[in-house]
Amino acid sequence: MRNSYKLFFILCLFVLWSCDQKKEETVLKAGLVSDDVAVFYPDEFDSVNTFPSLAIIKELSYEKELPKEWSIKPEFTKGDSVSIVKIAYPEGTDLYGNGEVTGPLWRNGTKIKLWNTDNFGFGKFDGKQLYQSHPWVMGVRPDGTSFGIIADNTYRQTFDLQNPITITSEGPSFRVIVIEKNNPAELMQALADLTGKMNLPPLWALGYQQSRYSYYPDTMVREVAQTFREKQIPCDVIWMDINYMDGFRIFTFDPKGFPDPKKLNEDLHALDFKSVYMIDPGVKRDSAYWLYQQGSEGNHWVQDSAGNEFNGEVWPGQCAFPDFTRPETRTWWSGLYKDFMSLEIDGIWNDMNEPAVFDGPEGSMPFSNIHRGGGDLPEGAHIRYHNVYGLLMVKASREGIMAANPDLRPFILSRANFLGGQRYAATWSGDNVSTDEHMKMSIPMTITLGLSGQPFNGPDIGGFTGDSNPELLAKWMALGAYYPFSRNHSAIDVVRQEPWSFGKKTEDISRTAVNRRYRLLPYLYTLFQEASTNGMPIMRPVFFADFKDVSLRKEDQAFLLGENLLVVPRWAESPSLPKGDWQDVPFEKEDDGYQPIVKLKDGAIVPITKLVQNTEQYSTDSLTLIVNLDNDNKAIGKFYNDAGQGYGYQSGEFELMEFTVTATDAGAYQLAAEVKDGSWKKEHTYRVGIVENGEIQYSEWKKDDLNFKME
Ligand code: GLC
Repeated sequence: MRNSYKLFFILCLFVLWSCDQKKEETVLKAGLVSDDVAVFYPDEFDSVNTFPSLAIIKELSYEKELPKEWSIKPEFTKGDSVSIVKIAYPEGTDLYGNGEVTGPLWRNGTKIKLWNTDNFGFGKFDGKQLYQSHPWVMGVRPDGTSFGIIADNTYRQTFDLQNPITITSEGPSFRVIVIEKNNPAELMQALADLTGKMNLPPLWALGYQQSRYSYYPDTMVREVAQTFREKQIPCDVIWMDINYMDGFRIFTFDPKGFPDPKKLNEDLHALDFKSVYMIDPGVKRDSAYWLYQQGSEGNHWVQDSAGNEFNGEVWPGQCAFPDFTRPETRTWWSGLYKDFMSLEIDGIWNDMNEPAVFDGPEGSMPFSNIHRGGGDLPEGAHIRYHNVYGLLMVKASREGIMAANPDLRPFILSRANFLGGQRYAATWSGDNVSTDEHMKMSIPMTITLGLSGQPFNGPDIGGFTGDSNPELLAKWMALGAYYPFSRNHSAIDVVRQEPWSFGKKTEDISRTAVNRRYRLLPYLYTLFQEASTNGMPIMRPVFFADFKDVSLRKEDQAFLLGENLLVVPRWAESPSLPKGDWQDVPFEKEDDGYQPIVKLKDGAIVPITKLVQNTEQYSTDSLTLIVNLDNDNKAIGKFYNDAGQGYGYQSGEFELMEFTVTATDAGAYQLAAEVKDGSWKKEHTYRVGIVENGEIQYSEWKKDDLNFKME
């Protein structure tokens, strides 16, 4: 080894050591963490004020010097109280990611501010500043090779996606991580390796869900649940918005409207429904309120710059806010869920956690508020911790829910979050509007969150604010069956938008759509399992079907569901679709004109099951394998199956199967069902449905003898 290299490595070790010691100055510029991940530090790197990273889950230690041919290199400069990074990239590169904002999938030329914002109707800042922050951009070159950039920084920062990309942070100098991969799928997996994966949710969370601000009183909750069962529209979850609380005090119940929440939840369970309840971070400043008393005694509140309890207005009036940077506060917050979950509550909805403060600057807290930190986290001003307030909250919520129900998989929905937050919660895109525009925009938004590391997300189906209408709800329900998170939710002052609210036609279209989702559950659950192991998005851009076909790069009306299904909404205008023999899957005998065209990839198999009204009834005893044979008369597909709840799957209690269907010369078909992983040995009955030219031809059901002839 040349002496200069030796010196370099010694220097690296020193830098790592000095970061550990939280000293301020470092001198190293760049190094390879692995063959295709590099980390770059500015001269004035400020480890005290940027470490520890809340996005990155693993230690980034240098292994090699940056190779000369490494092309994506950040340049760091300091401006007037800002830190700037410029990153040039080859012309012809398409940019994506950067999290949840409005606008097209293709992000070239977009300017996005990362400052978690309660943005009602996406009306402020042209929708380019929403509830979550993802300091992450991916670039896909014309040949499909891809790079990803993480600004490992929580401060308020702007991403200007010109060439060069300019990141301007209102905080100290921070490090930048650059990933180089052969294609965007590998890039997604590398992002997940660095920032973590979504945990496998309970199966019920994949079901259709019904919400409103608010179902009140509890009789209305029962009525809605009952109506789903009477009308035979599958549904798994009813959501409780803030009106279940006593005067919007979190962890309490309105004595009139929700006198016996445990009984309500038990009754919902008897109908095979789950319940999710909202918990906001703001605690009403009310000296007679037990939670406010506890929080004050425990010194749990965020402070103003003078060190006094900070108060700001949210739903209940003036509130205090837990300081989730304090380990003691997180422990206290976690502990609150024990009694709450014991009321047979199934899931938690953490909202307003940007945090939203109605009378604060830009709808939040003053930048100078103090978060006291503790443990790994140093004390810091709000400008440092604002964007991770939601992440730290859901981390604590999750720990509390898991402690309360150690045998159950937790489910949390969070409005605010940060890069890496998929480790703790699913998300929805906040307060959208009941318009065609917002329905269409939900596709690039859902895809982009997936490309930013968060596979489990979706918008309010039907639109939150503004009155929905029969036509819009029909279209949105038809689309909504394919969002990873599929929930209809509406605001307090708008017309009702349950699937039956607009008459028979919309109701029938909605039922057909939701039926499709439930039949597709074996495929969907397999995709969730995949996402939880390798970080691949569930809803993917069409260009994932062919990384080199640049004509697909801007398509954001059609989308992929996993690798094998292509979903084309009926309203899509001249969508760019991938080449190859994708075959339409005819789910219904009669076309209602609203259900998207769903195409099955050449040579692929998608497992579906019989229709059920909720996931408690889910059964994979009899699987239908929808098959599109390729030119070699062959097709392959995967299927994951476990108990749908609990942790048995972590010790092998699952089955991961691979199906191969081959057509033989004699017009017969052979199915090979091979267990690839897991200790489960379940018996399934299979039938094969071969799709061709919009028709489907089913075989007979078969159990043991898997050689069969098509009828
Ligand atoms: C926020 C949420 C919305 C909820 C409302 C009342 O606006 O985004 O979903 O219904 O608060 O809790």
